[in-house]
Amino acid sequence: MQRVKHKKSHLRVRSAPRSKKLSSATGDMRLLDAEKFLLPTYKRPPILLTHGRGCYVYDVTGKKYLDFLGGIAVNALGHAHPRIVKVIRREAARAIHLSNLFHNAHQGPLARKLAEWSGLDGVFFANSGTEAIDGALKLARLYGRTPDTPASVAAAKYRVLAMENSFHGRTFGAISVTATEKYRLPFAPVVPGVEFVRFNDVADLESKFSDDVCAVILETIQGEGGIYPVSEAFWNRARALTAKHGALLIADEIQCGLGRTGRYFAYQKFASRPDIVLVAKPLAAGLPLGAILTTEAVAARVSPGAHGTTFGGGPLICAVAQEFLNTVEDAKLLKNIRERGAELREGLQTLASKFDFIREIRGEGLIVGVELAIEGAPIVASALEHGLLINCTHDFTIRLLPPFIVTRGQVRDFLRIFETILTETAKRSALTKGSASAPATHALAATR
Ligand SMILES: Cc1ncc(COP(=O)(O)O)c(C=O)c1O
Repeated sequence: MQRVKHKKSHLRVRSAPRSKKLSSATGDMRLLDAEKFLLPTYKRPPILLTHGRGCYVYDVTGKKYLDFLGGIAVNALGHAHPRIVKVIRREAARAIHLSNLFHNAHQGPLARKLAEWSGLDGVFFANSGTEAIDGALKLARLYGRTPDTPASVAAAKYRVLAMENSFHGRTFGAISVTATEKYRLPFAPVVPGVEFVRFNDVADLESKFSDDVCAVILETIQGEGGIYPVSEAFWNRARALTAKHGALLIADEIQCGLGRTGRYFAYQKFASRPDIVLVAKPLAAGLPLGAILTTEAVAARVSPGAHGTTFGGGPLICAVAQEFLNTVEDAKLLKNIRERGAELREGLQTLASKFDFIREIRGEGLIVGVELAIEGAPIVASALEHGLLINCTHDFTIRLLPPFIVTRGQVRDFLRIFETILTETAKRSALTKGSASAPATHALAATR
């Protein structure tokens, strides 16, 4: 499905009133230090989160929040999961870091498990999603070289086709394949050789494909872009074209992979597998770990020194990741993800029939987008006041990424709180309808 352009019909609803500089008002030194010394890369609310337990987090005042953001798809086992806490304690007392110059006890077994889950053959461990992306782009360029091309000569096969509306991270390689201009343009010139294709537009893909393409990179479900899945037709064509031209199909499953859809990987609903799959976020239950999973054919092109990392794949972090994967299996979490996800989407559909500013519910499993005709930021702020953590992406899509362990009762609680927030939002917009200060809201009822 192509992302629908409907900026014009989206409306602004006045935010719930809230204090602008609460941190200064509360005088909490930790917030004051953050305001004074941190680079302003995030617009954060003046709340200090201190700890979490299961699907809840708590702030410094003791206020409890239902966590339907999960640290942006990271806290798949919630917070302070006893199995994760136990492994961290055990391994911290053994070895946190040993260097990639030596084998450690957990990298090999973790790589084997990821290979089993994905159906792929070789693994490289990185520190984050964006580093996994950069590593994958390097592998694609390596794969594009013929063995007899001298290292000093650029490969003839070097172009990368990336998708419009994509997000792949913040390093130079990742922003080069990220379509959103605000993330890319201020840092130009970025890595050359990238062209953007309209997501799910087979004709556009075909017209831009040529023999000098070394890779097609796509998110199996675009996350930051607003929860848009790749269509089967587009996937199949990308698979066929890359195979025919000796290029790689790279699936970014950093947000949607490792169980979130109710399958180990989102691409497993298709008949074919990609050449490279990238994972990160939930992999080590909150510790920073990314991975590049790939085929034997790609692995065969890698030699010592071609790529590397100091921190990636340390013993503690790999032991935790193994525990995460084992817990997903032992606790039958894929089933929970499918069932709770279905309940969540059903409840949201009911809300969509009550509130005309809900345009569409998208997603599967526990990656869900609620597309609004109004800006989502006031709803996110209001949710915080009601003790609920959610997120808005691309201004108009509420993104829900609850932990895999979420219960039926917690889904019900979420729907109840969300309905309250939507009711307040609808009332606010009605109040501001006739007001000269918010002229745009008069069309709210007509936006569906
Ligand atoms: C699909 C996707 N790819 C890549 C990244 C980058 O991952 P990281 O923030 O770990 O570098 C993200 C992060 O949100 C993502 O959602």
